[in-house]
Amino acid sequence: MSETKLTKLMGKTYQRSMYRDDDFTKKEYYQTCGFYLQIGVHPFSKLGYGTSVWDASLALCQYFETEGIRFPDKKVIELGAGTGILSILVALLGGNVTITDQPTLLRQIERNVSFNIPSSFKSRVKVCALSWGRDHTLFPSDYDYILGSDIIYSFETIPLILQTLLHLSNENTIIYFASRMDYGHLLIGYGYMTMSQYFKTELVCRYKVKDINVYKMVRKTPTPGDLIE
Ligand SMILES: C[S@@+](CC[C@H](N)C(=O)[O-])C[C@H]1O[C@@H](n2cnc3c(N)ncnc32)[C@H](O)[C@@H]1O
Repeated sequence: MSETKLTKLMGKTYQRSMYRDDDFTKKEYYQTCGFYLQIGVHPFSKLGYGTSVWDASLALCQYFETEGIRFPDKKVIELGAGTGILSILVALLGGNVTITDQPTLLRQIERNVSFNIPSSFKSRVKVCALSWGRDHTLFPSDYDYILGSDIIYSFETIPLILQTLLHLSNENTIIYFASRMDYGHLLIGYGYMTMSQYFKTELVCRYKVKDINVYKMVRKTPTPGDLIE
């Protein structure tokens, strides 16, 4: 049932391919958790991978819908948010969300926020640059939730993501990550294995239809070694 819903979500409700402005070449429309989201995208842009909606972000949206997960007044941060779709949903589900990515992507995220978040909710959303392993210490360590979708895709960034997670989290933080495994079983598996040394890592959902895994991670206490920071 939830697989069917994910397939439907990935099918996009409607694409207005004629839409084009300085930031976007089209808008995509997604219906999830009772909300109708409009997301500007610019596939193949020189800004890189973050200008499209990746399947793993939709898998997390579907997972939150299926499990009835809501974020009332929870403090949430997303790493490598891309278009911002997942954080936008989480803000609509009650979260106080910090949406992060590399500086070049912040403008498109801000615009997508403005397409979807009513002005009365805007104070719930911050859009900030956070390059993993570089800017993380500028952020606090008291998040209730940390989110990431399809951000494990290079060996070099795995230690940077780990370092960032260790800084942002405490023993009460819940981390939800999703990955489309067929983008690189070996590399992504290695990424989660690395995380699992420091976080209890549970596969909470698997969408076979797109080979997507959803993981829930919480910090091991005490955290092994003094590591990294
Ligand atoms: C494959 S995209 C996924 C985007 C979005 N999470 C989604 O699922 O639609 C990976 C994202 O990670 C971001 N990213 C890559 N390296 C990064 C780094 N070192 N620090 C911060 N973000 C990074 C990219 O800019 C991009 O938005």
